[in-house]
This record gives sequence, C-alpha cells and structure tokens, in this order.
Amino acid sequence: MQTKIFNTKEELNRSFTEYLKEILKARERVTVALSGGSTPKSLFDYWADNHRNDIDWNRIFLFWGDERCVPPTDEQSNYNMTKNHLLDYVPIPERNIFRIKGENDPAAEAERYSTLLQMEVEVVNGVPSFDLVILGLGDDGHTASIFPQEMELWKSTQLCVVATHPDSGQKRVSLSGKVINRAQRVAFLVTGAAKAEKVKEIIESRKEVKDIYPAAKVKPVSGNLMWFLDKEAGELLGN
Ligand code: 6PG
Repeated sequence: MQTKIFNTKEELNRSFTEYLKEILKARERVTVALSGGSTPKSLFDYWADNHRNDIDWNRIFLFWGDERCVPPTDEQSNYNMTKNHLLDYVPIPERNIFRIKGENDPAAEAERYSTLLQMEVEVVNGVPSFDLVILGLGDDGHTASIFPQEMELWKSTQLCVVATHPDSGQKRVSLSGKVINRAQRVAFLVTGAAKAEKVKEIIESRKEVKDIYPAAKVKPVSGNLMWFLDKEAGELLGN
C-alpha cells in the first residue's frame, strides 16, 4: 500500500492524472471503474479543463464501482454526476461508457452488469480484473456501496450485488469485494477532514477495523493499492 498526501486538490488531481497516464503507457485498452459521490467531481473537472486532448480517451473504457438505483438523469445518479463533470467535456466515445442502469430493477441490473463485466473487462482467473478501480470512502467506512451494516455483501460470490443505504433505504448496485480485490490497481481518492478519522483507522489498522469497515477489506491481490489524500483527509496519519 502506498499513501500520497497533497497540499491541494490541484496537486492531487495532477498526480492522479500522471498515475492514469502511466497505466495508459502500459495498456492499450484501459478499463476503469469510477467511484461516485462528490469527491471525484474535482478530478473530473480537472480532466475536463486540462486534459481533453492529451489523454487518449479513445483507449479508456469507463465503468462504475456502484450506482444509485435512480434514473440516469437524477441528481443522485453517479453517472449523471460524471456526465456533468467529465463525459460532456472529453472526447470519450459513447461505446466506451458502460453505466450501471439505475432505472432498472436492482437485482436484474446487478445480474446484467455482472454479465457485461465478463464480456467487457479482461477476465483473470475467472474474475473480471479492472486495470483500475477508483474508490471513495464514506464517513462510516463504506466503499463503493458496501456499507458496514451489510458486510456480508463484500464477500458475495456475485460480481455485482444489490445494497441498501442504511439511512435512506435507497437501493444501490455495487461491485462486490471479489471484483474490487481482483483489480490490477485500486486507488482510493479521499478528501476532506470528515474522512480523516476513518483514513487513520483503516490505513494504520489501529483497531480491528477490517471486520467493521468495508473499506478496510480492500486488499487487491495484485498488491497495488494507492491512497490519494488531500492534507485534510490525511491530517491524522502518523501522529
Ligand atoms: C457513492 C460512492 C460512495 C462514495 C463515498 C464517498 O455512490 O456514493 O461510490 O462509495 O465514494 O460515499 O462519498 P463522497 O465523495 O460524496 O464523500
């Protein structure tokens, strides 16, 4: 595991972009599972403003680590957020975009997306292996849409699972731990002081967090796990 802490979001975004470019040097066709929520907006805006032309978007194939079960036009939709901050601004072909269809029946969509992953993502030892999975971290230690109240979903034998937000009851479709930990690379993208405590607990494994926080169960078999933090999110590390 490698942890990088940045003074500003701009510096974080620049470093993350270099990280992506390194992957593009190594692979012709790069499959990326995006995180949702609000954190990625800054990175997506940065790419939209600065990297329309010097990233070969034609070779990037976008998927989602999770999606809310709402229509793609809903302001809660991770796809809608990504469209508004990235997809509408960079020349990525429509055929390279594989959204989770939040408008569908959740169980049917989990099934559909699981099948799609097996067709569109390179299968390694029987499991679709993304070149990169980007993850966020919830204040409660969730990641993707695997919540602490549903830890059993992490170790599902399914590739995609139906989760339920513990507060709102909103249904979500999420990658399971099986897919996340078989990615070639996993990168947490975490900013803001609200995440600092969980970041510390998880990175420093200060207490038995692996049994209570889904994010603490992210241990890619490849060993390639990176944490991209701004200084607020990383402020409690090391002390
Ligand atoms: C989602 C995300 C989720 C998110 C964390 C952090 O659909 O909400 O995929 O895992 O990454 O909840 O969310 P913020 O970036 O909004 O803090």
